[in-house]
Amino acid sequence: MKKIITILVASISLSSCEPRDRISKETFEQVNESMEVKRLTEVEIIEEAMIWGDSITNEAQAQLMAALQKAIEEKGTAEALEFCNVNALSLVGEVGETYGVEIRRVSNSNRNPQSLPTGEEKEILEAYEYTAESGGKSDPNIQKISGGDVFLYTKPIVIPSGFCLSCHGEAGKELDESTFKKLGELYPDDKAIGHKVGDLRGMWSVKIPKKEVVKRL
Ligand code: HEC
Repeated sequence: MKKIITILVASISLSSCEPRDRISKETFEQVNESMEVKRLTEVEIIEEAMIWGDSITNEAQAQLMAALQKAIEEKGTAEALEFCNVNALSLVGEVGETYGVEIRRVSNSNRNPQSLPTGEEKEILEAYEYTAESGGKSDPNIQKISGGDVFLYTKPIVIPSGFCLSCHGEAGKELDESTFKKLGELYPDDKAIGHKVGDLRGMWSVKIPKKEVVKRL
């Protein structure tokens, strides 16, 4: 603070014979420089949050897929369920911790009881579901929550291929007997079966503090 006042006083007295607008411009530039204030517009911040939300969810998705494929290759589909049951939430959570954000997957046709949407997530997921039911495709979304201090980035999760159906498809069809049995043991209230390729499976939800976005700019 002391430094800023000194700069202010010095700059006003040095340029006292110059036109007024010149004084204020120089003064503000110096003050800004000393405070390292970044002049960012709200649009720039939101755009960056959108890009970042997209790259964080892509990274989490890639890590989940890699771990899942490895588990299936090593142990088979039914045993890989056990792996997901133990590791899926923490694996995604760790990606969030790395970046100082809160990330999770939510679904109304959920397998893990902890994956139900809460708060603002509910309305957005309902909008994605509505669009999917009417045959449309939703884009990622970003909105402010917590009085504007946090951005909520969301992105639909659509079943991209038959790979997912070995654990989320129809019993007796894509879901083999041992996988179906194991699912019943691990998730007695499982609502995540009976899917087809192209179905909306849920959405990514990332809570990104605004200050973390500003740090990146
Ligand atoms: C090896 C079986 C398996 C495969 C293959 C699989 N999943 Fe899952 N999926 C699970 C299990 C088990 C859970 C619950 C994890 C937990 O307890 O958090 C789950 C949870 C989810 C969730 C979180 C919401 C919820 O219902 O709890 C989403 C979203 C999801 N899967 C989408 C997919 C998509 C998309 C694919 C294909 C790219 C896929 N899954 C492939 C087993 C699988």
